[in-house]
Order: sequence, then C-alpha cells, then structure tokens
Amino acid sequence: MDSRTPSDSKTILTDLVLPSETNPLGNLFGGELLARMDRAASIAARRHSRRIVVTASVNHVAFNRMIALGSVVTVEAKISRAFKTSMEVIIDVWIEDRESGLKAQANEAIYTFVAVDEQGQPVPVPQVVPESDLEKQRYDAALRRKQLSLVLAGKMKPAEATELKALFI
Ligand SMILES: CC(C)(COP(=O)(O)OP(=O)(O)OC[C@H]1O[C@@H](n2cnc3c(N)ncnc32)[C@H](O)[C@@H]1OP(=O)(O)O)[C@@H](O)C(=O)NCCC(=O)NCCS
Repeated sequence: MDSRTPSDSKTILTDLVLPSETNPLGNLFGGELLARMDRAASIAARRHSRRIVVTASVNHVAFNRMIALGSVVTVEAKISRAFKTSMEVIIDVWIEDRESGLKAQANEAIYTFVAVDEQGQPVPVPQVVPESDLEKQRYDAALRRKQLSLVLAGKMKPAEATELKALFI
C-alpha cells in the first residue's frame, strides 16, 4: 500500500460566522466549530485512506479564542499519522483580520478516524510520511496521544501504554 504525505490529505474549509451560529455574547457556538472541524477532518481522513471513515475519538480540543459574528473562519485539517486502521487528524483553526488580512490561530483539535468497509469493519490505511519539521513533531507525538486516548476509553491498560510511561521515566 502506498504511503502519503500530510499535504496529500490537507483540507481547508473557509466560512463566515452567521447570526444563527452564535451564543448570546455574539460568538461562535463551540458545537458549531466542532461540527466544522469534524467535517474537515473526515474529508482529510477520506483523502488519505480513500475509504469510508468514521470518527472514533475526539482526543483534544482547545477553544483558545472567541470567534465573533461575521468572522471568516478557516479550518485546516491534515493527517499527522496513520496506524493500522486508524488515523490521527490535527485541525488548526484560523480567523482573519478584515483590514490587515492577517490570520491568527484561534483553536486546535485532534480527532481519530478509522477507515471501514461497507459493513463498518476497520480496514488498513496507507502510512504517513511527514515532511516539514512540524509534521515530524506531530508524527512523533501521535503514538503517545493514541495510547492516552485508548487508556481513557478503557481500551488499553495503563501498564501497556509504553510511550506514556516513557514520559515519566
Ligand atoms: C471506530 C470503530 C470502527 C472502532 O471499532 P473497534 O471494534 O473498536 O475496532 P478496533 O478495536 O479494531 O479499533 C480500530 C482502530 O481504532 C482505534 N481506536 C478505537 N478506539 C479508539 C479511541 N478511543 N482512541 C483512539 N483510537 C481508537 C484502535 O486503536 C484501532 O487502531 P489501529 O487499527 O490503527 O491500531 C467503532 O467503534 C465504531 O464504528 N464506532 C462508531 C463510529 C461513529 O459512528 N462515529 C460517528 C460519531 S456518532
């Protein structure tokens, strides 16, 4: 099976914040942003695996900045690492200043997707070959995050999480 780079799966969704998507303070609802990130991440996972994909886990979400009504929001998703049937997708969220056009990072998230066949059974995916320094850092840390997610989900015993244990030794 061919390997692919993170750029091969890069997916960018850009959209406005509309009044129906805001809270009483006039900022984007967290749930709306989660949905946008899930959509972008699922397209990235599909581009990487070229299979049907399902969200297995939302591993990490940080809402670092409020996103105001009318903002232009860009959600960028890329596969950071693939394992046997699962893929870690890292999502960076940017908002852009109307006057300067400069982009600032507002949020980030990490999702895990699994490629499945028509019956919903997990199937193998191509490996990832990271290129940039950031992609290499994210690739290296992905196994640790996978183990943490599995431990928290009760699918791995803490004693088996070798990458996590290495952090504390
Ligand atoms: C995701 C799903 C296919 C996994 O099925 P499963 O029977 O647990 O299959 P496995 O145990 O073989 O796990 C498949 C892969 O997912 C990974 N995985 C499962 N749960 C995980 C979690 N919480 N965090 C990280 N990885 C996870 C496993 O480690 C394995 O990865 P690998 O093959 O790359 O090593 C299944 O649980 C499912 O269909 N869930 C519903 C998905 C869905 O509907 N999502 C939309 C949200 S409503």
